[in-house]
Amino acid sequence: MAPPTAVPPGKNPPPTTGQPPAGRPPEPPTRNGQGFGGPLPGLDAAGLAAFDAGRTVFLEVETVEGGLGPIFNEASCIACHRGPAPGGASPRSVTRFGRVTNGVFDPLAEKGGPLLQDHSINPAIRETVPVGANLVIRRQTQPLFGLGLVEAIADETILALAARTSVDGVKGRAAIVTDPASATQRVGRFGWKSQHATLAGFSADAYTNEMGVTNRLFPNENAPNGNTALLKQADRVLDPEDTAARADFELAADFMRLLAAPPQIPLTANATAGKALFEKAGCAVCHVPSLTTAVNGINALSEKAVPLYSDLLLHDMGRLGDGMPQGAATGREMRTAPLWGLRASAPYLHDGRADTVEAAIRAHEGEAVVSRDRFLKLSPTERAALLEFLGSI
Ligand code: HEC
Ligand code: HEC
Repeated sequence: MAPPTAVPPGKNPPPTTGQPPAGRPPEPPTRNGQGFGGPLPGLDAAGLAAFDAGRTVFLEVETVEGGLGPIFNEASCIACHRGPAPGGASPRSVTRFGRVTNGVFDPLAEKGGPLLQDHSINPAIRETVPVGANLVIRRQTQPLFGLGLVEAIADETILALAARTSVDGVKGRAAIVTDPASATQRVGRFGWKSQHATLAGFSADAYTNEMGVTNRLFPNENAPNGNTALLKQADRVLDPEDTAARADFELAADFMRLLAAPPQIPLTANATAGKALFEKAGCAVCHVPSLTTAVNGINALSEKAVPLYSDLLLHDMGRLGDGMPQGAATGREMRTAPLWGLRASAPYLHDGRADTVEAAIRAHEGEAVVSRDRFLKLSPTERAALLEFLGSI
């Protein structure tokens, strides 16, 4: 039982059904993965037990009898969310496709879109990008550290950010989405397009669409390229598959909710200078350094500062947008990516095109051009200071 291995920085390796280790790594979680991956500070015994139970489910490798597939991307959450500790990111990306006709997007649902499942329990039913698709994009795995804090931010806090007076031509829009867990309209904050508002909603979606494990929120299996006859032949497990009173998707949501924020490295004098430049360049207009959680039933999440470096709003990023509408977001709109823990989540940007933080900044377009151009005008020493700051948060 080796501990989860750190993911070396680099571009997407060929997709694998990465086999996570069973059980807990031998080291205490706070020392695992350079301090990433432990529980929130100040949890009581019940909170720690929920963290452990959720973590076990997050590491669990699904089996065909347990509902894996028939088509899927990976067999466990940790196969993608793995470095430098369980709940992190990895170079694994997923593929989404659809068809744009006269500017109108069709997710090609009848051909298995918009998410490709690139694995299957039987090679004969493997899904492929259909011929009619003319928009094919990749989405990079995101890290999950501190997401309970992000979930605990009130909708009103994000709406207030959207109502600010515009600076540098930056607008920003709150993503109003339907949360599958509560069936209510909420402010989205998770995913590259802020397409989900709650961890339970995202988790249930991921169970069905990344692993093929259906549940009461997402009860329908994906048919391989939309072929329901093939699905019927291959699917031997009655849906929904995740039926326990407290379902696996809820336990995995507990783990994410109680996962500590990325650990910060104390700022050197240089990094402190970089912080000032980050603000001077206008990065902080979108990458808002800190938001505060609302009153919460869990003490460790109640009225806490969340140093995430994001406004969680959608911004028109021009050519950096991926062209694919999703949830409340148009093709050009993307959620301001939180920057905490950046040093452990390469490669960067929604499609992983940037190997370095600097390349990610240089690729900013749309509402971010004024700020990006200020970054480009910094001296090499100033740029290095700003990058050192970003490597510390
Ligand atoms: C095949 C790889 C893969 C697997 C398996 C996977 N994820 Fe993800 N995860 C991703 C990708 C890619 C994204 C970004 C999705 C997007 O916005 O398009 C993501 C995003 C997320 C987010 C949003 C993070 C944020 O910062 O907003 C959550 C929450 C999440 N995943 C939870 C889970 C859970 C829980 C599981 C297991 C049930 C899981 N994921 C399994 C690849 C994966
Ligand atoms: C108009 C809002 C806005 C401004 C201003 C802005 N950004 Fe961003 N930033 C974004 C969005 C949106 C993304 C996600 C882009 C994507 O989807 O690929 C992002 C992504 C990033 C990333 C990559 C994060 C990751 O996890 O992949 C870094 C690094 C970054 N920004 C740094 C900066 C810096 C430094 C500045 C100032 C020079 C800046 N940004 C200014 C909106 C902004």
